[in-house]
Amino acid sequence: MAAARDTLGRQIHDLRISVTDRCNFRCPYCMPKEAFGPDHPFLADGRLMTHDELAKIVGAFLALGVEKIRLTGGEPLLRADLPEIIRTIKRGLGVPDVSLTTNGWLLAKQAAALRAAGLDRLNVSVDSLDEATAGRMNGLGFSVARVLAGIDAAAAQGLPVKVNCVVMRGVNDGQILPLCEYFRSRGHTLRFIEFMDVGNTNHWSLAQVVPAKELVARIAAAWPLEPVGPAYRGEVASRYRYADGRGEIGIVSSVTEPFCKDCNRSRLSADGKLFTCLFASTGWDVLGRVRSGASDAQVLDFIASIWRARSDRYSDERADSPGAGAGREKVEMSYIGG
Ligand code: GTP
Ligand code: 5AD
Ligand code: SF4
Ligand code: SF4
Repeated sequence: MAAARDTLGRQIHDLRISVTDRCNFRCPYCMPKEAFGPDHPFLADGRLMTHDELAKIVGAFLALGVEKIRLTGGEPLLRADLPEIIRTIKRGLGVPDVSLTTNGWLLAKQAAALRAAGLDRLNVSVDSLDEATAGRMNGLGFSVARVLAGIDAAAAQGLPVKVNCVVMRGVNDGQILPLCEYFRSRGHTLRFIEFMDVGNTNHWSLAQVVPAKELVARIAAAWPLEPVGPAYRGEVASRYRYADGRGEIGIVSSVTEPFCKDCNRSRLSADGKLFTCLFASTGWDVLGRVRSGASDAQVLDFIASIWRARSDRYSDERADSPGAGAGREKVEMSYIGG
């Protein structure tokens, strides 16, 4: 089957898969404690895609031209069969780029198994080096030292690591320069992410967003920066290198400088629904089709028809008219996978 293009000419290229909607952290920008307490209706285990179901669904995406798969969550390292899933996607299905986004809490223990399974690279969240601020940013007072040890363990396995920092004004923006210093001295690319209005529970306000321009200006005042072109078409982060040659940073500016024009990402929720935008309200039940006995060709047709009808450009629309997202019911990031 020919590669699929949507109504805006964007060809499907990436697939982000949430393997669980659960997480061991409660970051206020994603799963605030008050909304994700013990009564939160997490998916029952039987509703999650199994390894075999995932393999079948991924096969259909590959036939449509997907070359890059990122496993996310919730926290993907909570899923016991994660190495097996990676092995199947990488070695069984031969996906060129298989990556993982994790909070790093369980990484030190699992780094070797992830590498052995064929993982190509990973992105780890670090919002602060200061323990008190880190504890606030993960919602549970957990120590960032353990996450940093996880990053060292992954790097020791030869896994390339990028670091993600969501910046919230008045909470962790004092950590911007210390984070730059720490990660450039260790050779890891650090990406700052504008706090996004994803989901319905994180009490987002524009006042808490530190815009990309300000982030770059604050860093460049300490270490001059030079813009670098994207590593690949549709890359979400804008890249800058330190003029002194000591590495690079990225900025994910979904709020102030959206990048929908080149958005080639599809997303599968942990219960196997296809979402064509991070800010979508509803998904398409691919797993339901698989469970009711659809053939590979039928699954492929279903996904292709959804992608071809796609017209999402939420962040662009919100930038054009700032109230656009208000009042709209959106899915939670932990369910859809970021
Ligand atoms: P690389 O392949 O390493 O470039 O990964 P990535 O940056 O695409 O993935 P990662 O999971 O590290 O995501 C970094 C940030 O970008 C997170 O905050 C994501 O939610 C955000 N992000 C990723 N894709 C999209 C997207 O399509 N739209 C928006 N608005 N944000 C996105
Ligand atoms: N805004 C920006 N980034 C977010 N992430 C989670 N919630 C938000 C939000 N509201 C980030 C995580 C992780 C990635 C998958 O998404 O920190 O790096
Ligand atoms: Fe968990 Fe990641 Fe969400 Fe934080 S951002 S609560 S680590 S899924
Ligand atoms: Fe893609 Fe939606 Fe993000 Fe725009 S807002 S880049 S369409 S996922």
